[in-house]
Amino acid sequence: MSDDPTLATDYHTGLLSKDLPHERDRLGLLEQWGDPESQAVLAQCGLHPASRCLEIGAGAGSIARWLAGQCPDGWVVAVDSDARYLDGPPQPALEWCQEDIGTLEFDDDSFDLIHSRMTFCHLGNRREMLDRAFRWLRPGGWLAICDPMLMPASASADPDVRRFFEATEHAWTAQGSDMADWARALPARLAAAGFTDVSVRARANVIGDGGVYDRLAALNIEQEGGYMVERGLVPADVHGRVLGLVRSSRLVELRSITLYAWGRKPLPDGSAAH
Ligand SMILES: C[S@@+](CC[C@H](N)C(=O)[O-])C[C@H]1O[C@@H](n2cnc3c(N)ncnc32)[C@H](O)[C@@H]1O
Repeated sequence: MSDDPTLATDYHTGLLSKDLPHERDRLGLLEQWGDPESQAVLAQCGLHPASRCLEIGAGAGSIARWLAGQCPDGWVVAVDSDARYLDGPPQPALEWCQEDIGTLEFDDDSFDLIHSRMTFCHLGNRREMLDRAFRWLRPGGWLAICDPMLMPASASADPDVRRFFEATEHAWTAQGSDMADWARALPARLAAAGFTDVSVRARANVIGDGGVYDRLAALNIEQEGGYMVERGLVPADVHGRVLGLVRSSRLVELRSITLYAWGRKPLPDGSAAH
């Protein structure tokens, strides 16, 4: 946390607040970028039509809607502490829930699958949340988490890009988000929390790749920059130049590795089979 009173200390008023002008569009791009991989991972987690699923930090809801389609005889609880973008046609198996996951409680053994993408890294109680998720899963059930490891700003060759990303690092830390070490330690943390069959999948995200990630990175920088210029963390001209570099594909740079890690709660006899 920071002593700077101008910086947000939580997700909802911070760098990627839903009050920012393009946040719905940014979440849409995040879904385009992430959904194929999320669906591939979740398909390995033993989904069946009657699975009971919990989606933590549902964002704009695409994975929750997809899960509800996969599990028509089960149910999906999609939790987000700011649910303003959770919409779409009603699905009988799907329940939207606007709550802070830290304040919610579920009975032990409630779910077959718990999934969360780009959210645990922002939770103040993320370590404890692994233990809570473990309790909420039935034996044999799966927890799958995706979070980012941002490349250190100091690795950037361009001085303005370096300055911009240094300022974002500062602001992320101030709001209690861990955008590097948390994801890196995730497989070990899952194992320490008691999960077995821990698997990992990593993905390199390159600004300048000309694909969806490129557009997502540009919108990230636009949104984050507005927040930081307003608070004097970066000058407007630095933000403008960095944004210009990204939008014109003149910046080619590894921005993050995202890590999916998933594991299952063992059955009482210690085996992991269904
Ligand atoms: C970066 S977005 C990711 C959205 C979605 N999981 C995706 O990948 O498309 C993080 C989401 O977590 C939600 N969130 C942050 N803190 C939360 C909390 N304590 N409880 C529930 N949701 C939270 C935010 O409102 C936001 O929708």
